[in-house]
Amino acid sequence: MNNQDVKSYIDQNKDRFLNELVELLKIPSVSADSAYDADTERCAEHVKQSLINVGVDFAEICPTAGQPIVYAEKMIDPNKPTILVYGHYDVQPADPVELWNSPPFDPQIIDGNIYARGSADDKGQFYMHVKAFELLSKQGELPCNVKFMIEGEEEVGSVNLGVFVKENKEKLVADVIIISDTSIINNETPSITVGLRGLSYVEVEVTGPSKDLHSGVYGGAIDNPVNVVCDMIASLKDENNAITVKGFYDKVEIVSDEDRKAMSEAPFSKEDYMSAVGVKATRTEKGYSDREGTSIRPTLDVNGIWGGYIGEGAKTVLPSKAFAKISMRLVPHQEPDEITRLFKEHFESIAPESVSVKVTAHHGGEPAVIPTDNPGYKAASRAMEQTFGRKPIPERGGGSIPIVALFEKELGLKSILMGFGLDSDDIHSPNEHYGVFNYLKGIETIPYFHHYFAEESAN
Ligand code: BES
Ligand code: MN
Ligand code: MN
Repeated sequence: MNNQDVKSYIDQNKDRFLNELVELLKIPSVSADSAYDADTERCAEHVKQSLINVGVDFAEICPTAGQPIVYAEKMIDPNKPTILVYGHYDVQPADPVELWNSPPFDPQIIDGNIYARGSADDKGQFYMHVKAFELLSKQGELPCNVKFMIEGEEEVGSVNLGVFVKENKEKLVADVIIISDTSIINNETPSITVGLRGLSYVEVEVTGPSKDLHSGVYGGAIDNPVNVVCDMIASLKDENNAITVKGFYDKVEIVSDEDRKAMSEAPFSKEDYMSAVGVKATRTEKGYSDREGTSIRPTLDVNGIWGGYIGEGAKTVLPSKAFAKISMRLVPHQEPDEITRLFKEHFESIAPESVSVKVTAHHGGEPAVIPTDNPGYKAASRAMEQTFGRKPIPERGGGSIPIVALFEKELGLKSILMGFGLDSDDIHSPNEHYGVFNYLKGIETIPYFHHYFAEESAN
């Protein structure tokens, strides 16, 4: 493959590459909210058409019990290795919309960044694979067979994709899965994600009196479920900031001192880290660094809490109910179902007699670790080294992509997490953005991944 040809193709087509991404970002494919179902379906059609336009053998929409999956393939030679590209076209809700500087589905390119919901997570990232495929086929240089599987329910737990994978093992036969849905350390320091955390997500409901009461008439004797839920949640962490749920740490992987030392050598500026999110201090589990806290250690966080009167002015009320949504990020070898059960048992056991509690589970996901001694990782590492001029650092990420563990279990395939985003892209937040540099760098790097994967697989 000729480096100059790759560079000049991107140079000549970059405006079109950007315009096409802008069109894709205009479609509000929010999977969590059924009000957007028609848009989500339209988005799947759009993705399918974009794949047909770049010359796949065929592309199809695969309906599921939820949002459809887009599948496409280009088989050049059954004896060549096959790369399966996974990504997601669904996006998180844009709320709170009033905090956006421009409308979330009216993409703007400002100072080298594309602002829109889904720009980095994951439309901008999976679309790099579509354009890299275009580059390879236009230059007549496809070294591997390619399959695309772009789903519409990643942000809601990929439950129907799990079913699809189990039912379509034949169709999905491949040698490696490549995913761009994670970050690099910074634009001068590439990295490849070699770990994802799992997830257990619960909702708690604490009920006191059978109806809202006057807080003067009853306050002082009848327990207040909002106060109680605060006490209960506060007790879920101890003075070392460790999680108190019984049995929670029993299966947590102990990372060796050697591995921890290697991880600590990745560049990290605490000052920049804090100032980017507007805090003056961090708070980690005792004995662990900030980076370790967001990668090799599990967490417990309240995502939302409500109850009682939250309207204008003051209403004196002793509420009947209080609620909270709580997520736990898991590390190897914690099991989401088991952690959910441990949480439920613990939470019920610490409830005072004055209230009743109900714990319900939402979707979860298993953690994943990706080894570095395989053709896929080696190919990704060489590709990034080629285009960044620096060997990427293997890094464990804090987020979750639950389907990765299932790919391994059901298809026996490693997923290579070669993302090009930055942690500062504000994914899931207002003003999500993706760097034009990152988008084009991805389109430049991915063709090398295909080439090196063909080479590494032949070795
Ligand atoms: N792309 C993210 C996951 C991610 C982001 C991993 C950055 C590593 C670095 C993905 O779209 C996501 O948001 N996943 C959810 C999973 C959940 C909905 C089951 C998450 O991590 O909260
Ligand atoms: Mn994503
Ligand atoms: Mn996401």
